[in-house]
Amino acid sequence: MLKCTKLVTKLREGKIGLAIIKVGLLGLGNVGSGVVNIFSENTEKIREYIGTEIQVEKVLVRDINKPRLAELDQRILTTDPRDILDNPDIDIVVELMGGIEPAFTYIKQAMENRKHVVTANKAVMATYCKELFETAKANDVEIRFEGSVGGGIPLIDTITNKLAGNRIDGLVGIINGTTNYILTRMSRDGMSFDEALKKAQEKGYAEADPSSDIEGQDAAYKLAILAATAFGLYINPNDIPCEGITKITEAEIRYAAELGYAVKLLATAKNKGGDLEIHVHPAIIPDSHPLAGVNNEFNALLIEGNAVGELMLYGKGAGSLPTGSAVVGDILDIIRMMRQSAKTGSSLAAGRNNLNVVGEDTGSYYIRITVVDKPGVLGVITTTLGKHGISIASVSQRSLGERLVPVIFITHEVEREKLDKGLAELRNYSDVVKEVACILRVESY
Ligand SMILES: NC(=O)c1ccc[n+]([C@@H]2O[C@H](COP(=O)([O-])OP(=O)(O)OC[C@H]3O[C@@H](n4cnc5c(N)ncnc54)[C@H](OP(=O)(O)O)[C@@H]3O)[C@@H](O)[C@H]2O)c1
Repeated sequence: MLKCTKLVTKLREGKIGLAIIKVGLLGLGNVGSGVVNIFSENTEKIREYIGTEIQVEKVLVRDINKPRLAELDQRILTTDPRDILDNPDIDIVVELMGGIEPAFTYIKQAMENRKHVVTANKAVMATYCKELFETAKANDVEIRFEGSVGGGIPLIDTITNKLAGNRIDGLVGIINGTTNYILTRMSRDGMSFDEALKKAQEKGYAEADPSSDIEGQDAAYKLAILAATAFGLYINPNDIPCEGITKITEAEIRYAAELGYAVKLLATAKNKGGDLEIHVHPAIIPDSHPLAGVNNEFNALLIEGNAVGELMLYGKGAGSLPTGSAVVGDILDIIRMMRQSAKTGSSLAAGRNNLNVVGEDTGSYYIRITVVDKPGVLGVITTTLGKHGISIASVSQRSLGERLVPVIFITHEVEREKLDKGLAELRNYSDVVKEVACILRVESY
């Protein structure tokens, strides 16, 4: 058996034609099985592409006797991580366990043992990307993490490699399939939030405990990874201002639709002249916006580069085979680097800019206020908001003879702080203003 370094030397010197590359998998759940199934379905294609064979040498699981979604020799299953991390025959370790520990420790240890790593673990990458990039660099190995954001959509590769000649000015995306599915069902079928969540759980798009998805934390993890990739900025995912979709009602979606807008959970990072505006929040987007047509469990990312202009990537953001496809792509990339004598060690290691991170900056807003239906109310609202520099682009009032009616405004661009002050003053007119029922950002195109 050849050790990784010896194998690379032989490959570089062209002394080996079809040397087998040995891979160790940490985890054989949804994504791990997808990877094994892709290897066995596409063996010929893969061999032709990299000029060598890949062998899954060992697979770490918790329970050896559990039924599996992929066919493989039971004898390669192990419950001892050392069979992979300390195995001199294994060149590439693929971490597909999930959670932060022990995944983080295993990834780090694999790199310290001079093994390349591929992972789809957003929690680990979002929390520890700086340390992991530095470990990769120090040990002259690669760490790849395409599957951690956007499932099967090649977002990381596009930003890192294909757009390497661009300054990235902005990213806006739908990067959580669970919430997009829920919002789609609420919008298309008039379901309540709870009904749509239940449907998502039945279809396997939402976990039994859906809080990380519906509170926006999953999207914040992914946005932190995108910010590191696109802007070289390491931001703790817990520091990203984040709001989920739990307060969105089917009525809100209907009101927005009547005005020609769709409600989406957006992850946004925009370079505004040295300030990085970054947040996860529900927003309304005009029906003509490219992200408005992204429905159900699909994901999409709109990227703005100073050379390429606007570019949108769309596809399945999760699932065994789509995510497995991203993982296999990373593995093949590493093998090609090994064969081509390319320099390894993550090129993302150095944080490369000093953008000032800001939360919500300026924006246009959708505001729904419940008011008493009587003459002069609109005047009170526009005058009060005007005093705070908030100008109104459009207003819609519905009166069906009830005492309390909704008034919906879309504002021009305004600082969030000014908006909050204006709305706070408006709440003082409690004889006519009963409730500021909803505030959503408007993302234009
Ligand atoms: N599922 C998706 O669509 C998707 C999409 C994008 C990214 N990801 C990411 O991909 C990773 C894997 O997700 P998944 O859905 O495949 O997870 P999963 O179905 O829960 O599988 C996890 C696997 O890891 C093994 N495992 C977990 N903890 C272990 C431990 N301490 N020691 C040994 N083995 C352990 C489990 O073993 P047992 O089988 O014996 O229990 C199982 O085989 C996660 O980081 C996830 O965020 C998933």
